[in-house]
Amino acid sequence: MRDGPATCYLDGALMALEAARISPLDRGFLFGDGVYELVPCYAGAPFRLEAHLRRLRHSLAATRIPDPLDGDGWARVLDQVCEANGGGDQALYIQVTRGCPPKRTHEFPARSEPTVFVMSSRLPPAGSYADGVTATTREDPRWSRCDIKATALLPNVLLRQEAVDEGAHEAILHRDGELTEGAASTVFLVRDGKLATPELHSGLLPGVTREVVLELAAEHGLPYRTRPITLAELYHADEVWLSSSTKEVIPVVELDGTPVGGGTPGPAYRAMRDWFAQLRRQIARGRQP
Ligand SMILES: Cc1ncc(COP(=O)(O)O)c(C=O)c1O
Repeated sequence: MRDGPATCYLDGALMALEAARISPLDRGFLFGDGVYELVPCYAGAPFRLEAHLRRLRHSLAATRIPDPLDGDGWARVLDQVCEANGGGDQALYIQVTRGCPPKRTHEFPARSEPTVFVMSSRLPPAGSYADGVTATTREDPRWSRCDIKATALLPNVLLRQEAVDEGAHEAILHRDGELTEGAASTVFLVRDGKLATPELHSGLLPGVTREVVLELAAEHGLPYRTRPITLAELYHADEVWLSSSTKEVIPVVELDGTPVGGGTPGPAYRAMRDWFAQLRRQIARGRQP
């Protein structure tokens, strides 16, 4: 990724990020009435693009915002933004809002064009969190449609900040003692050599990295199950991991002030980290001429 002025995409045109302007009447600004995606790019190519676009279409359909581009259109825009920012490894952020009608009303405007914005940022260098992070637990106060990747993220922002205020990296959430996810991550545990993560339901986001982790587990013979997980189980896990598109998989070595397992990244994590790195190398090789 190139240093220097970043290039973004706004409503059909590439431009310098500093030059991009959105009206204060945009419903994304007024209501958080929009959805987003975060697509990692490895070696200049979007990773798991189809899965991210499928989730974007789901979020758009669930919020009744018309999809402004078809699959090829999205791929073209992401390629343009990635290339304009120097290729390599990047995080591409997509946001689509219900647009910018002349009046603020709660109900949908009769007519408005979605606002489409794409920007790029750096991915943390591989291995940035390999020594492990700390996490705290919190009751999950969010609405019941967390399967929608909505830009209205105030609960997630507050939960993450509470965790940071306590010196932790992430807030791990539960509803009545049943694990949902992190403020911005999927949660996994390992117990007796078996991997587990909560089943998908509307109370959590279907993580794209979650799918990659489960595929790698299947491919390399690490037994796994998707099932309800209690907070009590999490406290007795040998390993706890977080996953997300920007941070891949990271080990939690301390939960609510108590060491997880031996208090250092465990063997299953180290294996998963290596399988992920191998996958990235394969992708990079596949892109070489
Ligand atoms: C609430 C929440 N859950 C899970 C995830 C992980 O999803 P993905 O692996 O698709 O990035 C994220 C990512 O930002 C998130 O915000």
